[in-house]
Amino acid sequence: MTDTVKYVLDETRIPKRWYNIVADLPSPPPPVLHPGTLQPVGPGDLAPLFPMALIMQEVSAEREVEIPEPVREVYRQWRPAPLFRARRLEKILQTPAKIYYKYEGVSPPGSHKPNTAVPQAFYNAQSGIKKIATETGAGQWGSSLAFAGALFGIDIKVFMVRVSYDQKPYRRALMETYGAKCVASPSSETQSGLAMLAKNARHSGSLGIAISEAVEVAASRDDTKYALGSVLNHVLLHQTVIGQEAMAQFELAADYPDIVIGCTGGGSNFAGIVFPFLGAQLRGGKKVRVIAVEPAACPSLTRGRYAYDFGDTAHLTPLAKMHTLGSTFTPPGFHAGGLRYHGMAPLVSHLKELGLIEARAYEQTKCFEAGVRFARAEGILPAPEANHAVLGAIEEALRCKQEGVSRAILFNLCGHGHFDMQAYIDYFAGQLTDQQYDEAELAMALAGLPSVKAA
Ligand SMILES: Cc1ncc(COP(=O)(O)O)c(C=O)c1O
Repeated sequence: MTDTVKYVLDETRIPKRWYNIVADLPSPPPPVLHPGTLQPVGPGDLAPLFPMALIMQEVSAEREVEIPEPVREVYRQWRPAPLFRARRLEKILQTPAKIYYKYEGVSPPGSHKPNTAVPQAFYNAQSGIKKIATETGAGQWGSSLAFAGALFGIDIKVFMVRVSYDQKPYRRALMETYGAKCVASPSSETQSGLAMLAKNARHSGSLGIAISEAVEVAASRDDTKYALGSVLNHVLLHQTVIGQEAMAQFELAADYPDIVIGCTGGGSNFAGIVFPFLGAQLRGGKKVRVIAVEPAACPSLTRGRYAYDFGDTAHLTPLAKMHTLGSTFTPPGFHAGGLRYHGMAPLVSHLKELGLIEARAYEQTKCFEAGVRFARAEGILPAPEANHAVLGAIEEALRCKQEGVSRAILFNLCGHGHFDMQAYIDYFAGQLTDQQYDEAELAMALAGLPSVKAA
């Protein structure tokens, strides 16, 4: 019996390849469709938005994709990220469960997002691109791409969802420190933004709208590409360094998770920790229970429809089959800005349909309560998004106590909340409420889903 708290790997153990779960799935995910022809999109359709190396990763069915050495060199600054055993939290909960968390807040911008921002900037730079437009919810993705852009000499333009822009001025300042330009979305700089402002001059914005603005800028300029911080296959692929490292760290601990938990906005940090374990299971290894946790105010996996939908509000993107609340749905302005997306990654949605993962939805006050409990035990202050995974882990640990069984629970602590202190201030002041989405708006957004005949 050891009392190890922190399982660390040296830099030589940074994965050399990303893991592509498509190779191990019992059936492939449905194809992405061109909205005009309803035919599967080809690499040429995506070329205005992404460099070809990323497009090839997007459609790849190879089990492993080599990580370029310049990307591994940057990863060295914070990877391998530590795996912690939450021994003090276990004691406080008086649970027989073993709680482990992989901590992604050690990256310079403070979350898992640089795991994909760095390779995306690298491949763009390699193909001669000088500018990238993107969106950001919480600001974690925007600051990660700003960081990566600074390293690879690319100008970054970030459309930041208005409600987060107002809630998180320090994230904005961080992006500017890295040299990026950041505007509130909807903005008056694009047709998509202007259309939204015409409907409501004080629009709080959404990730779907900010994506439309960034795609519009990229599609209309030869020198500019687009980058997305979640949802797409290549983004999920890049995040699998998290789970691969965790597997090696569990070997150090002579243990293996029974349950793996991640919060889900677009699905990338969840996929990052979960896919390597699910892949091992699909190849005949140990079965793990996998739980996706999402906000009750934007519940795509638990309340959305599994259907073809646009990735953005202005309908500039291809159609992807995913759990969706409808691309025109604007979630309430709750504090986990990174989880305010109407859809779920097609790969994560497909796993849900295959019965390989479970999903549950939590209200934000309970998530903050769990985050504060965690911070008081472990010292690390989680991002509001990560609080969803913290609550999931605490609930499972308490279930172990009730049932008198010890299970190993792993969750992804995908980012710190040092730029989210206003949310914690509001929570302590009793001003943080559980916001409900508008059922009529949801029904309308779902009624507006594009009609695509079953393939
Ligand atoms: C800290 C953090 N966690 C989670 C998310 C949600 O994204 P994803 O589901 O792709 O991990 C975000 C998105 O901005 C984030 O900033």
